[in-house]
Amino acid sequence: MKIGFSLHATLVAVAMVALLSSGASAQQPLKIGLIVPMTGPFASTGKQVDAAVNLYLAEHGDVVAGRKIEVLLRDDTGIAPETTKRLAQELITNDHAEIIAGFGLTPLAFAAAPVATEAKTPMVVMAAGTLVIPQKSPYIVRTSFALPQQTAPIALWAAKHGMKKVYTLVTEYGPGIDAETTFKTVFTASGGTVDGARVPLHNPDYAPFIQRAKDDKPDAVFIFVPSGEGSAVMKQFAERGLAKAGIKLIGTGDVVDDDILDSMGDSALGTITSHFYSAAHPSAENKAFVAAFEKANGGMRPNFMAVGDYDGMALIYQVLRRPAVRPTAINSSRPPRA
Ligand code: DHB
Repeated sequence: MKIGFSLHATLVAVAMVALLSSGASAQQPLKIGLIVPMTGPFASTGKQVDAAVNLYLAEHGDVVAGRKIEVLLRDDTGIAPETTKRLAQELITNDHAEIIAGFGLTPLAFAAAPVATEAKTPMVVMAAGTLVIPQKSPYIVRTSFALPQQTAPIALWAAKHGMKKVYTLVTEYGPGIDAETTFKTVFTASGGTVDGARVPLHNPDYAPFIQRAKDDKPDAVFIFVPSGEGSAVMKQFAERGLAKAGIKLIGTGDVVDDDILDSMGDSALGTITSHFYSAAHPSAENKAFVAAFEKANGGMRPNFMAVGDYDGMALIYQVLRRPAVRPTAINSSRPPRA
């Protein structure tokens, strides 16, 4: 996978070098506390993340720059921010983790951010996607994605393909609100109109929302739901006959998550999404990644969560290989003032 580091990511990575090389003995293993939901409704995210870490270690070895990498996996069970926070504290204080990583959902990344700040510990967000996450701590670097980036292209696509009215259906929390806001802004700027509703994050029942969307008679329904929820949405979309009524399903790629795409069957046909990753991308690099991932995981196909995590490990390895950088080096990398 290719890593496109932003300026923020690069500066945080430089700061990580300074932090990681400051106190700890080079002979000690470097512990990475990996906090993800391994059980509960978002377990698919945790399984993808864990599998990607293991693949990265298998392919690149578990010793980098003379330090053995030890990954301490912790299950925060889904949407339980207080559990994520406690696990982050325990990993840093009791287990001496020098990096915390993972974070399957936005509220969980938010919960851990103050812990990273207080403990001055680098925090690599490998999964969650609300725009503001990296602003929650100067110790955060993100290798996943941000919803506005995923949403703007499909809003432009809809306008360019003659759609005039779209109904937005999003999960009611950070990434859903980012997706809704971006879709509305871009699509209305192109002359379209938008109605919509928000579905609860906890125990969602999509049926009444999909019916309401159908009754609104839009050209398309734009959907954002977190990874793992797509099958339930597709089922309702098919059962309520929206495609037959001429209503298209568009969205970010989260709704046709590669991990569960096969289980959706024909109901996913005709869905149009924009996203930063698809397991079907035909590059040689991606084909090798997908083949190795499937081989190591009993045929499980990687989704975009696995990629954020694989890239997160690549970031950590690259940072550890760099010589320690003094703060003056950070300043000298900035463009000169006019
Ligand atoms: C988030 C979680 C997801 O599963 C996803 O697909 C997108 C965003 C989040 O909580 O940030």
